[in-house]
Amino acid sequence: MNKLTIRDIDVKDKRVLVRVDFNVPMNEETGEITDDSRIRASLPTIQYLLRNQAKVILCSHMGRPNGAPEDKYRLAPVAKRLSELVGKPVATTRDCVGSEAEQASKALKSGDILLLENLRFHAEEEKNGPEFARGLANLADIYVDDAFGTAHRAHASIVGVTQYLPAVAGFLLEKELVNLGGILTNPVHPFAALLGGAKVSDKVALMENVIGKVDYMLIGGGMAATFLKSEGFEIGQSLLEADRIETASNLIKKAKANKVNLIMPVDVVITNEVSGKGSYQVVAIKDVPKDKKIVDIGPKTVELFTTALKKCKTVFWNGPMGVYEIQQFATGTVSMAQLLVSLKALTVIGGGSTADMVYDMGLADKMTFVSTGGGASMSFLSGEKLPGVEALNDKK
Ligand code: 3PG
Repeated sequence: MNKLTIRDIDVKDKRVLVRVDFNVPMNEETGEITDDSRIRASLPTIQYLLRNQAKVILCSHMGRPNGAPEDKYRLAPVAKRLSELVGKPVATTRDCVGSEAEQASKALKSGDILLLENLRFHAEEEKNGPEFARGLANLADIYVDDAFGTAHRAHASIVGVTQYLPAVAGFLLEKELVNLGGILTNPVHPFAALLGGAKVSDKVALMENVIGKVDYMLIGGGMAATFLKSEGFEIGQSLLEADRIETASNLIKKAKANKVNLIMPVDVVITNEVSGKGSYQVVAIKDVPKDKKIVDIGPKTVELFTTALKKCKTVFWNGPMGVYEIQQFATGTVSMAQLLVSLKALTVIGGGSTADMVYDMGLADKMTFVSTGGGASMSFLSGEKLPGVEALNDKK
């Protein structure tokens, strides 16, 4: 990585503003954090700064409030959880800029932690407002970006603030770029992309970007229906992106031209009731009736995908193979997750809902790398430049 990191600067006794992505899922009724992995993911950076006697000022967004305070998006539960994890008090402020935040930042002693209130309580955060960015910069001597999950957003706490402070990467941001970047630039072959999820449109850029790099591309999930339709199969009432049939067909042609082994479902689970309350059965792909919906890949497809993936040394996975939320239609997705952890291969999980699934199944620790970014990992793997990375200081 050609960006400076916290290893490259002296942080002792400095006020260090760290942009983290503590946008964690919460139970709205109890106000409890339901998954703290994003907090844990930034602990190496926070602990390094504490060990090196920095004054740590953390800032994050939570949810999507409309540029004004909203109690359900306050960061107090995060401060509490972080305090338990680091084993020391975490001070908080009622606003992330202004006199209270300035006084709190000045009162910090080396080795102290302060968590500012939700950045998105100010509309200027998402607008990358220069005054707001300066307000944040006023709190610190150095800026560290450890928020990979938000690196695709050109917001004030990610881009604007770097105009006013030395700006370097934290360990999480670095780890994400090394792992996701590694599979793009230097994958160990054979390399497979296992792709699912509802829509082709969400994955086109990613597929275009990896098609010249992978040996296998396996397609499941709702989006498989559009690919199958483009090959002339009946897909019944399954979700179809009619305006993407040609895109799917072009991707299939491109895969062939690049000698990529593109594998689509040969059998599927069909139902008349996606809620799981109706009947369901497995049929060959040529036998999908007009009045049914495809909701999972079938056992023969699982076998076919398994045979291909067992040959691979690198596997990237994004998107469920079926309607994973409904137990009867989760078999394909669960089978793939269990297979991946058994492979002698580098397994990289694109973030967002795929990461959540892997955590739910208790398999995240057994994968080589699970990204903390949803949209950010998709943007990065689609070959886009991330504003949050571009804004950081280059290594000399
Ligand atoms: C995420 O959850 O993907 C990040 O925290 C970014 O959140 P956003 O999509 O609301 O910008």
